[in-house]
Amino acid sequence: MKIVKFLPPVCLSLLLMITPCTSQPFACDKNEPKTSQFPFCNIYLSYEERAKDLVSRLTLKEKVQQLVDNSMGIARLGVPPYKWWNEALHGVSSVGRGSVRFNATVPGATSFPAVILSAASFNASLWFKMGKVVSTEARAMYNVGLAGLTYWSPNVNVFRDPRWGRGQETPGEDPSVVSEYAVNYVRGLQEVGDGENSTNNRLKVSSCCKHYTAYDVDNWKGIDRFHFDAKVTKQDLEDTYQPPFKSCVEEGHVSSVMCSYNRVNGIPTCADPDLLKGVVRDQWGLDGYIVSDCDSIEVYYNSIKYTATPEDAVALALKAGLNLNCGDYLGKYTETAVNLSKVEESVVDQALIYNYIVLMRLGFFDGDPKLQPFGNLGPSDVCTNDHQSLALDAAKQGIVLLKNNGALPLSSNSTASLAVIGPNANGTKVMISNYAGTPCGYTSPLQGLQKYVSSVTYEPGCRNVKCSDETLIKAATKAAAAADAVVVVVGLDQSIEAEALDRENLTLPGYQEKLVMKVANATKRSVILVVMSAGPIDVSFIKNNTKIGGILWVGYPGQAGGDAIAQVIFGDYNPAGRSPFTWYLQEYVDQVPMTDMRMRANTTDNFPGRTYRFYSGKSLYQFGHGLSYSSFSKFIISAPTAVLIPLRPYNIFPSRNAQAIDISTVKCENLHIDVVIRVWNSGRTGGSHVVLVFWKPPSSGVGVIGAPNMQLAGFEKVEVKGGKTQIVNVRVDVCKGLSVVDSDGRKKLVVGQHTLIVGSASECQVRHPLSLMLAENGSQSGRL
Ligand SMILES: *[C@@H]1O[C@H](CO)[C@@H](O)[C@H](O)[C@H]1NC(C)=O
Ligand SMILES: *[C@@H]1O[C@H](CO)[C@@H](O)[C@H](O)[C@H]1NC(C)=O
Ligand SMILES: *[C@@H]1O[C@H](CO)[C@@H](O)[C@H](O)[C@H]1NC(C)=O
Ligand SMILES: *[C@@H]1O[C@H](CO)[C@@H](O)[C@H](O)[C@H]1NC(C)=O
Ligand SMILES: *[C@@H]1O[C@H](CO)[C@@H](O)[C@H](O)[C@H]1NC(C)=O
Ligand SMILES: *[C@@H]1O[C@H](CO)[C@@H](O)[C@H](O)[C@H]1NC(C)=O
Ligand SMILES: *[C@@H]1O[C@H](CO)[C@@H](O)[C@H](O)[C@H]1NC(C)=O
Ligand SMILES: *[C@@H]1O[C@H](CO)[C@@H](O)[C@H](O)[C@H]1NC(C)=O
Ligand SMILES: *[C@@H]1O[C@H](CO)[C@@H](O)[C@H](O)[C@H]1NC(C)=O
Ligand SMILES: *[C@@H]1O[C@H](CO)[C@@H](O)[C@H](O)[C@H]1NC(C)=O
Ligand SMILES: *[C@@H]1O[C@H](CO)[C@@H](O)[C@H](O)[C@H]1NC(C)=O
Repeated sequence: MKIVKFLPPVCLSLLLMITPCTSQPFACDKNEPKTSQFPFCNIYLSYEERAKDLVSRLTLKEKVQQLVDNSMGIARLGVPPYKWWNEALHGVSSVGRGSVRFNATVPGATSFPAVILSAASFNASLWFKMGKVVSTEARAMYNVGLAGLTYWSPNVNVFRDPRWGRGQETPGEDPSVVSEYAVNYVRGLQEVGDGENSTNNRLKVSSCCKHYTAYDVDNWKGIDRFHFDAKVTKQDLEDTYQPPFKSCVEEGHVSSVMCSYNRVNGIPTCADPDLLKGVVRDQWGLDGYIVSDCDSIEVYYNSIKYTATPEDAVALALKAGLNLNCGDYLGKYTETAVNLSKVEESVVDQALIYNYIVLMRLGFFDGDPKLQPFGNLGPSDVCTNDHQSLALDAAKQGIVLLKNNGALPLSSNSTASLAVIGPNANGTKVMISNYAGTPCGYTSPLQGLQKYVSSVTYEPGCRNVKCSDETLIKAATKAAAAADAVVVVVGLDQSIEAEALDRENLTLPGYQEKLVMKVANATKRSVILVVMSAGPIDVSFIKNNTKIGGILWVGYPGQAGGDAIAQVIFGDYNPAGRSPFTWYLQEYVDQVPMTDMRMRANTTDNFPGRTYRFYSGKSLYQFGHGLSYSSFSKFIISAPTAVLIPLRPYNIFPSRNAQAIDISTVKCENLHIDVVIRVWNSGRTGGSHVVLVFWKPPSSGVGVIGAPNMQLAGFEKVEVKGGKTQIVNVRVDVCKGLSVVDSDGRKKLVVGQHTLIVGSASECQVRHPLSLMLAENGSQSGRL
């Protein structure tokens, strides 16, 4: 690709004055009357009018050069090039071909835990706050020319299979948790907030929900994402794969959606007019642009020869509703495709208009960024103490106490010596997972623990997480035998679970199991096992071992992970995280091919199903599991025992016998129930408690085939001091939280006896009956 050198005039003049030109090049410079007087620079016009004006001034050749992530800009109109591909999954990241860079001016940015751990906090306000911090740091870096404005984050694919290498990027296996995370993180990134007027639809930074859709096989036993055709039922699509994207667009108001590499039922997602134009644009009403993964168009042309020519490939994508191409295919082949009448130029225009509206909402065409909202942010707003303590808080809030036989928390008074063992025990980079930037700094587990005990010995026990030789185990057992307490940090890293790398096994790699067994056998007291991984690990070999005093899952805990782990272990923080996924046993991988997209169990072919919603087999720990140093009890103070389903007027009334009512006929607006719960902390230690409210539909045979075993209907996190109570209101949206999807992909409310269950399977659960019935007046309004 030919690169057009572009230097906006203000930079030139600044350069002449020997002043460093630090900001991004910008369009619509007031000092350039020739270009700044175009209507597209006029902030009093609507974004759409301005975008249309700009596009109307371009030649076809110029247009196609703007359809790619490294868009060339139009020098003659004062429009600089723009690099769309920036990432901010859990902090401003330098992954991608965008503008994010770190140098001495901004040496690092706050690196939050991998999303899978933040998800375990079950704290929606934390997710929002993290988004806000990330967008503030992104704007600050943008102002000094070190970042872009468009971020292709978050990843909202459901963590469907424990082997998925990118599970770490997601908020777990439950579609409603993923949705809630997406909405909050996106709002944190995008909302201008703080008294600013949002009615003008302005964006702080632009966020993107990806990868649409049913994308969650990277590379498993030779089957890769570029060739994979996901066979998905309408039922699974509607109640598992789509909901996070729907919420992201409808409630999060995200300004971009990225289509994936894979096919869904034979059609590449980026070439599917039903999925793109039909659903994302028309049904959900995306106010933003649709971008391809990098480079999905080339992939479906090259890898699977989905079309006869590259021109057909780009024409298909554009007509399906794709607006921007990560990659260069649209730039290379669209002009010919238009000349050959494979696609109308007006389709190209519309794509550009969607893209430019987003840049307009970001202020890209409003002149000097320094004079705009957030123009005052700079390097001192990155890695602030507040931001860094939020990264620590996020790690602490996510850490899950899986097991405790009373050994935890350790007392630093009675721990004169500590052995810290394991391949991840002094991990730094491993903690920031993938799609990371350069963090403000690191505290490794070893460094965190050293703050509590003066005599610490460290033995890695393995050379790395693959642990393919056992020579270092001996030194580890020696250290364990000599210490008052032992912490072993095992797990995985990007060499085992990563993008383009799915796992085959759920067990600890190499000799890690042996290391744990030997160390446990060698210690006088007990071992605290810390599992640093995204996906679940089958630790059943140790679960019942009495020498294992406690097990913590810490995900990939981000830059402050070591402090978070140490504060939990020594009781300065009372853990409250809950597992956002099911901990399957190793045997699961033999029962279920990763490429089988079915969610629901099927006895005909012994398919056990997936995730807590459908899985019928045994698991090590269940979704929602997580202990505390306190004891919490819950009582329902009030909750309705019946919900009347109001029908929309003028609808054909469903027959009196109908047990499943299509929600398109139901007046869903404001149809919710409030479950008011008293939470009592009977322990002495204060702490937070996650209240999970599950819904169990009527027993099978009623209404819809394939209803979930149970399903999360709502959750709230509450802080309760030792010996005190707090009252929590968990609001459940009836149409969203209590509906099932039938085999045609239609959402239904099932008339009959339902059950609400407060608490996860490992807690003392409170059950509450709830009957759903048609409103008395339903038939009257229906017959009108
Ligand atoms: C860092 O990069 C920015 C943008 O290119 C530049 O303005 C700044 O001078 C650089 N800082 C240092 C210390 O080199
Ligand atoms: C926000 O917009 C509304 C409607 O355009 C306007 O009436 C109001 O004054 C604005 N508020 C601020 C703080 O700008
Ligand atoms: C497309 O057609 C225009 C007008 O005929 C011509 O100038 C241009 O070179 C053609 N582009 C390509 C890539 O063939
Ligand atoms: C540990 O020692 C400190 C200072 O002597 C004391 O305040 C604290 O209560 C002790 N903690 C425990 C758990 O014994
Ligand atoms: C732990 O890791 C840090 C950072 O990589 C390193 O500086 C330090 O030497 C390591 N500590 C030990 C005991 O190996
Ligand atoms: C998975 O486990 C099996 C059986 O223990 C082993 O043969 C295989 O090498 C393992 N695969 C990987 C990728 O570690
Ligand atoms: C456990 O330790 C004892 C000695 O302390 C040793 O005899 C035994 O072989 C060890 N067992 C294992 C499984 O390592
Ligand atoms: C652990 O103990 C539980 C309860 O006693 C038992 O059900 C389970 O099978 C045991 N697991 C292993 C791996 O031994
Ligand atoms: C179970 O699987 C069989 C064979 O694949 C299929 O014919 C049947 O429809 C499935 N049952 C359900 C309830 O999906
Ligand atoms: C949720 O996270 C926020 C932000 O970090 C924190 O202030 C709050 O205490 C958390 N809520 C609970 C109940 O722990
Ligand atoms: C019908 O019943 C619903 C639910 O009880 C109620 O909210 C609604 O006001 C009623 N509508 C009419 C027209 O009576």
